[in-house]
This record gives sequence, C-alpha cells and structure tokens, in this order.
Amino acid sequence: MPPTNQAAWLLEAGSPLQVRDAPMPAAGPGEIVVKNAAVAINPLDCHMQDSGVFVQEWPSIFGCDVAGEVYEVGPDVNSFKKGDRVIGHAINLVSGRPEDGAFALYTVIPANKAAILPESIPFTDGVVVPFALEAAICTLCLETPGSAMPGVSTPALGLPYPTLQHPAPALNKTLIVYGGSSSVGSMVTQIATASGIRVISVAGKHNFGFAKQCGAVEVFHHGDPDVIEKVAHAVTSTNNHTSEPGNEDEFIGIFDAISTPETYAANLAILARLEGGHLACVHPPPSLDDIPGNVNVKTGMIFAVNDVATAVWRDYVERALRGGRLQCLPRPRVVGKGLEAIQGALEVVRGGVSAAKIVVEL
Ligand SMILES: NC(=O)c1ccc[n+]([C@@H]2O[C@H](COP(=O)([O-])OP(=O)(O)OC[C@H]3O[C@@H](n4cnc5c(N)ncnc54)[C@H](OP(=O)(O)O)[C@@H]3O)[C@@H](O)[C@H]2O)c1
Repeated sequence: MPPTNQAAWLLEAGSPLQVRDAPMPAAGPGEIVVKNAAVAINPLDCHMQDSGVFVQEWPSIFGCDVAGEVYEVGPDVNSFKKGDRVIGHAINLVSGRPEDGAFALYTVIPANKAAILPESIPFTDGVVVPFALEAAICTLCLETPGSAMPGVSTPALGLPYPTLQHPAPALNKTLIVYGGSSSVGSMVTQIATASGIRVISVAGKHNFGFAKQCGAVEVFHHGDPDVIEKVAHAVTSTNNHTSEPGNEDEFIGIFDAISTPETYAANLAILARLEGGHLACVHPPPSLDDIPGNVNVKTGMIFAVNDVATAVWRDYVERALRGGRLQCLPRPRVVGKGLEAIQGALEVVRGGVSAAKIVVEL
C-alpha cells in the first residue's frame, strides 16, 4: 500500500486547524520529500493562523520546521538519499504551496534548505534549528539590502559565515543581541559567535546562563532600569579590551529579536550613546525621528528565507551539529504527539515561552 498523507489544514484565517487527508507530495527538481517525525512551532505560525498573513493558497498548510526521514529524492538531488535522517526548512511562507508546509505527515523541502541530522541527535532536538538558523544567516550575512516587504529593506551586515574552527578566529567586532533567549536571538548568538564576533546579550535574568551557553560574553537583564547604560558601557569597554591603540573592536550594531516599541526605544537609546550602527529587526523597524541627526542608524527587517543560507546548510550544519559547534537550542518542549496536537502547541506559543521551542512529535 502506498503511504497516504494527512495535514493540519487552515481553512480560513482565525479558525482552528483541521486534521484531514492531504495529497501525497512528490519531489520535484532540487527537492526532497521528508516523512516528518517532529515539527516545531514559531510565532509566525500564530500570525498566519490568526490573520492569514502570507497565506497565498486556501486551504493552507503552513509551518516552517521539520525533522524526519527522507522519503523521496528529486531527480537532480544527490546530497540526500531515501532514509536519511534530516532537518529541513519548509518554505510555504514564500511558495504558498500546501505541500511546502511543515504541519503534515510528509513535506516537500528544498534540498538546499536541509541537512543530515546526526544519529546522536533526536528529531525533537534537531527540529528547533531550521527556521531560526536561516533567520540568523539572513540577519548576519547578507551583503546588500533586499526587500523584506514593500518599502522595507533587509539588513545588510555583510558578516562572514560561521566557521567550524573552535574557537572561531576573532573578527574584532561586537554585536548586541537584544532578546538573546528567544529562538532567533539565541541562534544569532550561536552563529555570530561561531563567526568570531563578540556578542553582548540582553535577556531575562533567569536566562543569563542560557545566553552564555549560546556564546554571549556578557548578558544584561531587559528589566534592569539601567540596561541602556550598562549595555552601552559593556560595548565600549569590550571594544577597548585590546591594549593596542587603533586596534579596538568595531561595533556592528544591534539585532533586536523582539522588535516592540519598548525594545526599539531601548535600542535607539543605546545606539545614540554608541554613535550609531545597524539596527536589524524582526518586524518593521522604528522611525528614526527621535535619533539625533548626527547618529547614523541603518535599520532593516529580516526576511528569513534567502539563498544566502545555502552554503551554510551545505557546508556547516551537519558538521557543526556533529561536533557540537551548533547546539539544538533553545531546548525543545515537546507538548504532544500527532497532527491533532499542533493546535494546542500553537496556543502554548501564543501564551509566551522563555528560552524554549515548542515541538510536536508525529
Ligand atoms: N522577519 C522574520 O523573518 C522573522 C523570522 C523569525 C522570527 N520573527 C519574529 O521574531 C520574533 C521572535 O521569534 P522567536 O521565535 O525567536 O521568539 P520566542 O523564542 O518565542 O521569544 C521568546 C523570548 O522573548 C524574550 N523576550 C520577551 N520580551 C522581551 C524583552 N522586552 N526584551 C528581551 N527579551 C524579551 C523572552 O525572554 P526572557 O524569557 O529571557 O525574558 C523569551 O525567551 C517573533 O515576533 C517572530 O514573529 C521574524
């Protein structure tokens, strides 16, 4: 008997997911079909369900993160074979095709957005990586600004890819990650650290150890009334850590993984003290009206699907997972089993998480 597919369908915006049969996907050129063993939930999924944003085809199957076994390989794909254990980034967000959504038993994944998952890593751990990884590469490595949405550019920090060397050779550059315990913030911390960048992180007090585990050299509490002064001071003292004059660290700017009015106010105040820098956001950036004209702030909003990540998927992910350079963080919290559990998992994400990724086993 050939296998049959099922999915958690979104029939209309604002409605609960419905588990129903779905067509069995086929792998086209450059694609693999993954038999999913675990899927992870992202805040984006909640926005898509609530408002239908990014949905191009109704009914929709969405979701971005899968881990499982390769079921079928497209005609020109030679980097994977049937039965390989993989993680993959599902791209329904850009393609709109239901077969590209994660919340199904079988999902089409572009072969250049997948990597072998080492035997030692459970599917429920590996599944926390894909979407956050691509978001991190899009944050750090784009050389030129693209379009995140009409009228909003992506950031272009132009930083190098992560290296497998441990420790990574120092680039003498410093980045602030605001929201360092979030899924995307912690992955940016890991990847930036593996590129040789010093990360100063802002997270909840209870997550200082977690931010350091991801690579941050210093962590400050977002609820500290003096957080702006403390972070700005940490950057200037870090930047002058070398005794050689003229060889100070360069301040890159801030990645704001939260991007709310509150975090924007804090970040613009930090940038004003540091005489400017990048402000890479996960939502549309703030107006710069309150920034003094002599402070140069370059804003951008990431868009987490981009071929800039191809080299990282191909050359870095499997080896970095195997060697422990890339950790499956934040830790998964498995909240259920089966497609029926995805709706409840979305509710858990809506309720807010702290240094955790919500995962459903299939
Ligand atoms: N544009 C894109 O392409 C793109 C891609 C991916 C994600 N996103 C967006 O990025 C955001 C983050 O996603 P995610 O999955 O990383 O989120 P997440 O893991 O669910 O975020 C939870 C974390 O947010 C932290 N947090 C909440 N308020 C904070 C504050 N005021 N200051 C610092 N940290 C704060 C919490 O830290 P503590 O518990 O330590 O306090 C918690 O660990 C979402 O809005 C998502 O939609 C956008």
